[in-house]
Amino acid sequence: MSVQCWNGSIAKLSAERRQAAGRLWDATWPSPQGPALPRVQTRAEQPDQWAAMWLHGAEQDGQVVAVARSFQRTVRVAGAERVVLGLAGVCTDAAQRGRGYGRLVVEAAFARLTAACPVCLFQTQVPGFYTGLGAREIVAEVVNSASDERAFWDPHVMIYPATASWPAGTIDLLGPGW
Ligand SMILES: CC(C)(COP(=O)(O)OP(=O)(O)OC[C@H]1O[C@@H](n2cnc3c(N)ncnc32)[C@H](O)[C@@H]1OP(=O)(O)O)[C@@H](O)C(=O)NCCC(=O)NCCS
Repeated sequence: MSVQCWNGSIAKLSAERRQAAGRLWDATWPSPQGPALPRVQTRAEQPDQWAAMWLHGAEQDGQVVAVARSFQRTVRVAGAERVVLGLAGVCTDAAQRGRGYGRLVVEAAFARLTAACPVCLFQTQVPGFYTGLGAREIVAEVVNSASDERAFWDPHVMIYPATASWPAGTIDLLGPGW
């Protein structure tokens, strides 16, 4: 069995990889709005808000079995703006779960953190998966003051790394949630 990982700007990845990511998102989160990939690509074309949108994939024997996406967003917390790495679309093919693929793609996204963008911010329904990868839950109201689009909707808000300092107070995403 061969396992391969890939990462890169959504604009530069092959159409095959982008479409495979889209198929996994649609299988995991079927949406009345239709396929996920065109919506994600539309966002990637708005770099003032969704900067540096990357996909992270894991392939087993040439088959994409897990994906995630990451991007930079400016949010406001405790009156100050900060650039965070957003994480979304993390999923593993239902037949391939429990084999470490989810960890691979999330760790690839976390590897994008830098001194200028040192914290990853995301929402989830499965906090235990992420605490196992070194994230921690924070308790905060999350809002979007910039538009009518919803902020976060999952019950758990998390940051990575767990050791990062994070101020108390409402988190304003200054745009739609992810
Ligand atoms: C959550 C999900 C991505 C995990 O993917 P996966 O490929 O099965 O995860 P891995 O095999 O890499 O697991 C890595 C570790 O996390 C643990 N883990 C996996 N799912 C977990 C969960 N739901 N809760 C707690 N721990 C979990 C594994 O036991 C493993 O621990 P170990 O390293 O101690 O053995 C996958 O279950 C999934 O696609 N779920 C549906 C979509 C979803 O909820 N995505 C998250 C959106 S924020």
